[in-house]
Amino acid sequence: MKTFGQLSFKRLVIVAYRLPFKIIKNGDADTAVQNAGGLVSAILSLSDKMNANAESNEKIIWIGTGEKQLGEENINPHFDLYPVEIPDEVNEKYYGGFCNDTIWPLFHYFPSITTYDKSYFEAYEQANQLFFKKVKDIILPGDFIWVHHYQLFLLPSLIRNSIPGVNIGFFLHIPFPSSELFRMLPNNWREAILNGLLGSDLIGFHTNDYTQHFLRSVKRTLGLEIQQNYIHLENRIVKADAFPIGIDYDKFHNACSITEVVKEKRNLKKILSDRKLIFSVDRLDYSKGLLNRLKSYERFLEKYPSWHEKAIFNMVVVPSRDTIDRYIELKKEIEATVGRINGKYSNISWRPIIYQYKSLTFNELVALYDISFVGLITPLRDGMNLVAKEYIACQQENFGVLILSELAGAAVELNESILITPNDIEATSDAIFTALEMRESEREAKVIKMQKRLKNYDVFTWAADFFSQAEEVKEMQQKLKVNYLNFKTKNEIINTYK
Ligand code: G6P
Repeated sequence: MKTFGQLSFKRLVIVAYRLPFKIIKNGDADTAVQNAGGLVSAILSLSDKMNANAESNEKIIWIGTGEKQLGEENINPHFDLYPVEIPDEVNEKYYGGFCNDTIWPLFHYFPSITTYDKSYFEAYEQANQLFFKKVKDIILPGDFIWVHHYQLFLLPSLIRNSIPGVNIGFFLHIPFPSSELFRMLPNNWREAILNGLLGSDLIGFHTNDYTQHFLRSVKRTLGLEIQQNYIHLENRIVKADAFPIGIDYDKFHNACSITEVVKEKRNLKKILSDRKLIFSVDRLDYSKGLLNRLKSYERFLEKYPSWHEKAIFNMVVVPSRDTIDRYIELKKEIEATVGRINGKYSNISWRPIIYQYKSLTFNELVALYDISFVGLITPLRDGMNLVAKEYIACQQENFGVLILSELAGAAVELNESILITPNDIEATSDAIFTALEMRESEREAKVIKMQKRLKNYDVFTWAADFFSQAEEVKEMQQKLKVNYLNFKTKNEIINTYK
């Protein structure tokens, strides 16, 4: 694998739905604050590292939606930001419609709430065109264009058709569903999505399963020749592979001992006294399994009364998409369920659930991760789930036990955690009991193993791995071109480069 310094591209151009910052009005002064989401934190960490290694002073270029003001010079020392403008009436059907009412539910295995609306898809095409126009104005020879996520499936081929020799990588941060589910989309949408993606040189997913699902869909829908991870087009090969996104491990691990966090932990421990903390934090989303989690905790309280007054569940829900009806409804249901459970079990000195609907600061988050005894991360489906990785990176005080849904991509790497199926309320409630009762030596052994793995393949290795493989694909394509001129058959050529 190449290091950042060894990569040959001149500039990195990120294209994603949102810019990494938003403007917050602060009295008279406006400040740029970081947006939520795994992609943003990954690339921000990466930018520090790349800047430290770079020979030139090139900034990372980021194209996405956001306030015009973000495009002004010097808003951030590491980035040149280029806002894309999407008219409200298009964005409603593009972002609110096709992205979050079609792709998001279908790709998270909720086909029954997926909407199929022609006008949504048309808005999706329009919005991808608007991104394309911006990209076209900005890119220069030698750039590496890294397109991210389900909002931009059509973009790689729009770029490729206009500038054939360009280097394009694509990364999907949510699951790619089984081909059986993918084929629920109308045929022309399926073809457009797959052909759009195949404009890339390298397409990355979090797990090998998602990669295989994608390759199977390509075979079924487009009938293309596939050998191992390579898709053979008329005059190009494209690679699809798994790159499980990592976290900035050292940042989380080392933060546990900085003064502010130590102070925060001291305060929290005083409040908790000798009660053991169970902790979870998620964006508000139906894919996160929040209601199942509450039901499992309720069942735990029912079955294991010896833990009454000795355990506290702090469930933090971070506001997200809270103008969409389904999310508003979910919030109401969560609050009613928390109220019902607390009403049933609370007494004057103990409340079994502390529910918070807010974002936490980095220091608060790290302190809560570190002092808790159990991390309860139980999504119904999740591309990766970085919270699970952050939780493990921060285990130093108690070597807390992670209870993790096997339907999260992170379960592949964190298999020393207690893996549960979130629909199995009984098993999840037993897992809480097992975690709370686990001996320290066992907890420690599990945490240490997982920490090693996370440190090894952190967010920097993830990115370097992706960039290196993208360069390898480019080199293979060059060699293939020569071989085409020698009139070799497709199969002979592929076998040469396997
Ligand atoms: C998830 C998605 C991201 C998205 C984020 C916040 O992490 O994978 O694409 O940006 O949620 O959701 P929002 O709809 O507010 O951008």
